[in-house]
Amino acid sequence: MTMMEIYGEFKPYLSQIKDDVMKKLAVLNQQEIEKNKNKLYEHLIGRVKTEDSMVEKCQRKGFPLSPEGALRECKDAIGIRIVCNFIDDVYRSIDLLKHADWCEVVKEKDYITRSKPNGYRSYHLILKVDTPYPYIDGNTSGCYFVEVQLRTIAMDSWASLEHEMKYKHSIENPEQIGKELKRCADQLASCDVQMQTIRQLIHEND
Ligand code: GTP
Ligand code: MG
Repeated sequence: MTMMEIYGEFKPYLSQIKDDVMKKLAVLNQQEIEKNKNKLYEHLIGRVKTEDSMVEKCQRKGFPLSPEGALRECKDAIGIRIVCNFIDDVYRSIDLLKHADWCEVVKEKDYITRSKPNGYRSYHLILKVDTPYPYIDGNTSGCYFVEVQLRTIAMDSWASLEHEMKYKHSIENPEQIGKELKRCADQLASCDVQMQTIRQLIHEND
């Protein structure tokens, strides 16, 4: 089967925008380190959703199989994950993004205060960013959407393992495995709170 080119002429801009936004985040991180010797995040990763996955998602959601569907209706063609050491750093990052002049937060989902039933924890933002690149509305410089997932290292390690196992061959007793995974997620969440407390104790006299 021939692969569909759902991003059309806009495809080359997507990885460029991903890199541009990651650079802006690196600058924010540097500024925070200079200001209070406290880095914002531990590491960042970015990806452009493959055209195959995007076609599958647009089909599933009933969006048109066109750049319009892939870039305007679906808002996660560009995805960036911000992995932080502590829960406080996640919220500090969110706050800085909400006040940044180069993007606008158009949607947020807080799976940290309310985790998903399976135990998934993360804070998701959809950013609208101004770019110098052509966009589907015919403008020579347009706004693109970027999905940002913010989580702690503990939340990230759980999500990676859960994701990996989801795609592994037929699971024999899904209820039991689901329950065990949920238990792990809750234990990790409790560690995050303890770690945060330890950091506060260490910095009490700063
Ligand atoms: P999608 O159609 O998957 O994009 O879902 P959505 O538009 O309802 O967004 P949601 O915020 O629920 O999830 C977006 C992304 O978060 C997913 O593509 C995953 O990267 C991540 N995610 C959400 N739920 C889970 C989960 O249960 N486990 C893992 N490992 N990742 C998840
Ligand atoms: Mg998604």
